[in-house]
Amino acid sequence: MRSSRALLGEALREGKAPAWQRRHVLDLDDFSLQELELVLHTARAMKDVLRRDVKKVPSLRGKTVVTLFYEPSTRTRVSFETAGKIMSADVINVTNSGSSIEKGESLLDTLLTVQAMAMDIIVLRHPHSGAPYFAARNLGRSSVINAGDGTHAHPTQALLDVFTLQEHLGSLDGKRVVIVGDISHSRVARSDLWALTRLGARLVLCGPPTLMPWDLLKGRRDTPGHPFASVEVETDLDKAIEGAEVIIALRLQKERQGAGLLPSLREYARLWQVDPERLARASPNVRVMHPGPMNEGVEISPEVAHSAQALVQEQVTNGLAVRMALLYLLCGPRELGA
Ligand code: CP
Repeated sequence: MRSSRALLGEALREGKAPAWQRRHVLDLDDFSLQELELVLHTARAMKDVLRRDVKKVPSLRGKTVVTLFYEPSTRTRVSFETAGKIMSADVINVTNSGSSIEKGESLLDTLLTVQAMAMDIIVLRHPHSGAPYFAARNLGRSSVINAGDGTHAHPTQALLDVFTLQEHLGSLDGKRVVIVGDISHSRVARSDLWALTRLGARLVLCGPPTLMPWDLLKGRRDTPGHPFASVEVETDLDKAIEGAEVIIALRLQKERQGAGLLPSLREYARLWQVDPERLARASPNVRVMHPGPMNEGVEISPEVAHSAQALVQEQVTNGLAVRMALLYLLCGPRELGA
């Protein structure tokens, strides 16, 4: 049977591919397989642009993108800015520090102010889950991309994760992927769950039971059609990692330590750190990913973080391609000329 990826490639060549319908990218929970594949296919074309000597295309000339970040970021903010600039958009960066947010301006007023300056796309990171939905509901003209909201979702990170895995493994159907760490509070893991299960990966979630996303998993064993019916939970990392083809280590949010959800950092590292001994139990070609920033020596050992199996830097590069693809799709397809 041909994969959905091959079928999409064929449909695109024949001009029969599904058209992009979205004005906003808020989460992946409602993305169809075809939509996921369309973004990934577009990102592959963008990666070709990144391989050129002159990394500049006119596709978004005349378009304006604002990154509106209420939380710190290196990867997501810089890659959206770079993606926009490579595609000739005008990009403006706004952070809480140094803007009128510091004077107490509300999120709604800030959004309306930015929209009033004719921004085509607002890339929003916010500590409150749901903030991008609020933005999308209240903005009549600008598109919204969720760049991470509270503990809810980080769709562009999940898209770059699956893009990176497809580059290495081809189809993800049936691949054993272990996500280890503070899954409950990880917006990356929550978006990864939707993307990876839709692409057919066999997911194993591992970590302390207090940090499992039980809200998403509830009823998965006895509800027909549950999206996470096939997801396994295994608290013992040595068992979870057995035969794994991919391990995604998550940043331990150290602020959880005082809340009684974790043992000490030392105990956490002993039980759930991805280190060379544990890696030896995985598939010989195992790939290790981490969304960054990493706490080396806590959830991942420095040896593994900088090993040949680690795809951390590739994830960053691919983040650029995926974010170019989303800006491109949201602005309406144009020629990717030189
Ligand atoms: N992975 C990620 O979102 O990193 P930043 O916080 O640096 O954007």
